[in-house]
Amino acid sequence: MNKESFGKDFKWGVSTAAFQIEGSHDTDGKGLSIWDVFTAQKSKIKGTQDARKACDFYNLYKTDINLIRSLNIPNFRFSISWPRLMPNGIGEVNQRGIDYYNRVIDFLLECGIEPWVTLYHWDLPYALELKGGWTNRDIVSWFEDYTELCARSFGDRVSNWMVMNEPSVFTGAGYFLGVHAPGKSGLTNYLKAVHHTTLVTAAAGRVLRNIVPHANIGTTFSCTHIEPASLRYRDQMAAHRVDALLNRTFIEPLIGMGYPQSDVPVLRKLDRYRSGNDDRDMVFDFDFIGLQCYTREIVKASVFTPYIHAALVKAERRNVDCTDMKWEVFPPSIYHILKKFGTYEKIRKIIITENGAAFPDKVVQGKVMDEQRTKYIQDHLLQVLKAKNEGVKVDGYFVWSLTDNFEWAEGYHPRFGLIYVDYDTQERIVKQSGLWLRDFLSEV
Ligand code: BGC
Repeated sequence: MNKESFGKDFKWGVSTAAFQIEGSHDTDGKGLSIWDVFTAQKSKIKGTQDARKACDFYNLYKTDINLIRSLNIPNFRFSISWPRLMPNGIGEVNQRGIDYYNRVIDFLLECGIEPWVTLYHWDLPYALELKGGWTNRDIVSWFEDYTELCARSFGDRVSNWMVMNEPSVFTGAGYFLGVHAPGKSGLTNYLKAVHHTTLVTAAAGRVLRNIVPHANIGTTFSCTHIEPASLRYRDQMAAHRVDALLNRTFIEPLIGMGYPQSDVPVLRKLDRYRSGNDDRDMVFDFDFIGLQCYTREIVKASVFTPYIHAALVKAERRNVDCTDMKWEVFPPSIYHILKKFGTYEKIRKIIITENGAAFPDKVVQGKVMDEQRTKYIQDHLLQVLKAKNEGVKVDGYFVWSLTDNFEWAEGYHPRFGLIYVDYDTQERIVKQSGLWLRDFLSEV
């Protein structure tokens, strides 16, 4: 395998998210996000850590962009913090926030690196959460205004846009289980959040298309290959339901298929929140779909789990190789996912917008020898290539992540970076995986 086997138009990149790297939580007029508030609450985050400083990307963006350049990575995915641009989520615009992203974008372009902007990577303005956040249908117009501001401010230089990051994770963890911000739980909150997210995704796609007509517009989904724990019919049906819930709930309405309600009966309750032209308005013809795949899950039937009657068989109990997130290392998952999404005719193009792994990296004599991560990336790339060679329209691969960063409720313990961060000194050390990628990408 070499770079050329993927074709000359294949997009190689690295991904990040504002809240996980920027820090400067209240600098230059930024408003509070739901994650600022969530991390300030007791026992929500392992080790009671917060992201007030994180990787200090807000100040060190030039250092990190220079590192991206030194690793020969031509594309950089980052997200915009909505409360940095609009401290109250609606209304007043914070020019200093816009200036900051202008500096980042301009420096990327100066370094010959293409910006890929995510509009929403989970840091909702807290002022909007006080109005119900994703459970309030007004979020459709709030988000349209925010999208318009981003498109008008940056659309002259940014061509690649992604509306959402992983809706199934932020609605599930944040509005059903309550383990992510804003910490809401229960079926009603979850279903409203799901439906409004779907409406917003399509609506924001339309706003981008109108304002930046030649943009390359996408949105991203987390996806995981699901297998039944046994050949028993009830385990197979449980796996089928979990697959529909995790992998199909958000993509299918966007491409005009509606929610997978016959496979996940509880989603029928979504009809309560549907109105007027929703079926039409949920559809948008994205230029690409971003897939983010890390592992596989094994599923068994469970009468104790409400609504879905299925449970995951944890990787730790299966005697398999795991990452620091306790996720199984299973490279064929990304192949199966690509084949699965490849069968949707309405998907024009797929880009792997995140893939990577957390391992317990250590600095030894100034070096980080992360063989496991290097192998993880190589093995996943082989599976992406296999799918591509079999005709799946996969056109890019972005590693999660550039640097170690704030891993949400897990705090700083899991290290996902190609670059090690010493959080006390903010020193960066390129890991062996980063050096491998640099050499791989420099091959002609
Ligand atoms: C998210 C990232 C996260 C990564 C590793 C994805 O779910 O988009 O924000 O850090 O996976 O957990």
